Amino acid sequence: MAFEFESDNEEQKILILDFGGQYKELIARRIRECGVYSVIMPYDTEIEDIKRMAPAGIVFTGGPNSVNDPSSPFCERQIFDLGIPILGICYGMQVIAHMLGGSVTPCKKSEYGRTACIVDPSSKLFSSLEAEQTVLMSHTDMVSRLPDGFVSIASTSLCPTAAFSCDSRGIYGVQFHPEVENTENGTAMLGNFLFRICKARGDYSMDDYLKRQIRDVKQRVGENKRVLLGLSGGVDSSVCASLLSEAIHERLVCIYIDHGMMRKSETENIRSVFEKKNLNFVYVDAKKRFLESLSGVVDPEEKRKIIGREFVRVFEEEAKKHKNPEFLAQGTIYPDIVESGKNKSAVIKSHHNVGGLPDNLGFEGVIEPLRGLFKDEVRKLGIMLGLPASLVYRQPFPGPGLAVRIIGEITEEKIEILQNADAIFREEVDRLRKKPDQYFAVLTDVRSVGVMGDFRTYDYTVALRAVRTNDFMTCEYVPLSHKLLSRVCARITNEVNGVNRVVYDITGKPPATIEWL
Ligand code: XMP
Repeated sequence: MAFEFESDNEEQKILILDFGGQYKELIARRIRECGVYSVIMPYDTEIEDIKRMAPAGIVFTGGPNSVNDPSSPFCERQIFDLGIPILGICYGMQVIAHMLGGSVTPCKKSEYGRTACIVDPSSKLFSSLEAEQTVLMSHTDMVSRLPDGFVSIASTSLCPTAAFSCDSRGIYGVQFHPEVENTENGTAMLGNFLFRICKARGDYSMDDYLKRQIRDVKQRVGENKRVLLGLSGGVDSSVCASLLSEAIHERLVCIYIDHGMMRKSETENIRSVFEKKNLNFVYVDAKKRFLESLSGVVDPEEKRKIIGREFVRVFEEEAKKHKNPEFLAQGTIYPDIVESGKNKSAVIKSHHNVGGLPDNLGFEGVIEPLRGLFKDEVRKLGIMLGLPASLVYRQPFPGPGLAVRIIGEITEEKIEILQNADAIFREEVDRLRKKPDQYFAVLTDVRSVGVMGDFRTYDYTVALRAVRTNDFMTCEYVPLSHKLLSRVCARITNEVNGVNRVVYDITGKPPATIEWL
């Protein structure tokens, strides 16, 4: 598939000025959902740059600071005189109030969570909405005196100015967060800002997003340089590879390291998709090397560390063989950035992402074309790029692969048993209309006595796990029907040599984790 990238409708955009809020990408996403393009820039972007950009509207994000602290972030004063509509969110609203002569003071009581709010439907910002709304509040300061020319257009029981406006100047502020789902009509409010106030067209699509990314990659990489990507076969790295191959074709080198612990048929599927593409797909058979380095290792953390270490070594060797491309590409998506920023807690498991490489590999730059996207948007791009649905909608699979699902020593025999049992379980669950978020088999190290025909067996126990989760930080087990479980049990014990017992894991996280290791 070839993408025309010369003609996009980039000329109309919304500028999001970042005051340090955690939801800036979510704001960008909501604006994208309304069919409008946006760019996120720092709060102190120079006025000349803003003028050159000529956005149709400007959104100030929230942020953790208080405007009464002089060291807090503020934008350039002239921004209010450009005649460009502005919407301030949370701290962004307080910036407007403070800079235009109003007052912001601490609330008597902080307001957090879903809150009932009365809005003025005659305001353009709340046009076609009911007066009673549920919004997400999260603040300790509030606007206590309005700047001249402003009126309050919303209130809650604790906050008399939950939103304000100065229609003649096109300046609006909301104390709550319209970008989050807890603000039930938040997207409609943003839509009112975009279409009624900024007069945006709403003709921007994921297709435009793709074209822009392709063009940006071309520009950044230039005519001669090359890009290296660690392809795991997961959704993110696969979409990243497809996108980059549209941009720079065979100057993309994709390294797929087969550590031998992928699910049944997975490596073949990935090869069949990517070997056809116009890129340098390098299949590295490292099965023997991984197995040898894992030989005799039982401790789960040690297994993870060995796999991580070997992965980086193989990757470095292959990069050298392919004359060390100048750029490294990664399929980082927005939730990865948020999670890694927050992740300062105790190490439960040293997660290893295939493609998760150390910082010091000596590349000229890192390319992350999916950095601003959420998972469902990445999937949309994957389909647009022609990837098969089976790859784009696949459930998450950990970087170390089946190694975290085999208790005790990892051997070739155990991998094969698990691949076969897991394939049966997935095949049966895949028939369900509503699938669990993650479902797989685990090979326990327990062997027990059974009987097959007239013979005694002493074989492995397979555990099945199926969980429902939003964020993979916690989960509940899914109560699969007994009928389904019985069918899976019969098939595994009949079709997989070496298994004579099947159990179902009904533990949530906490106290268990999703993977067994
Ligand atoms: P746990 O077992 O920590 O898993 O509850 C939470 C989610 O993370 C996945 N997982 C991993 N993903 N590298 C990955 O890329 C890893 O080392 C790893 N360990 C667990 C797991 O499959 C689940 O979705």
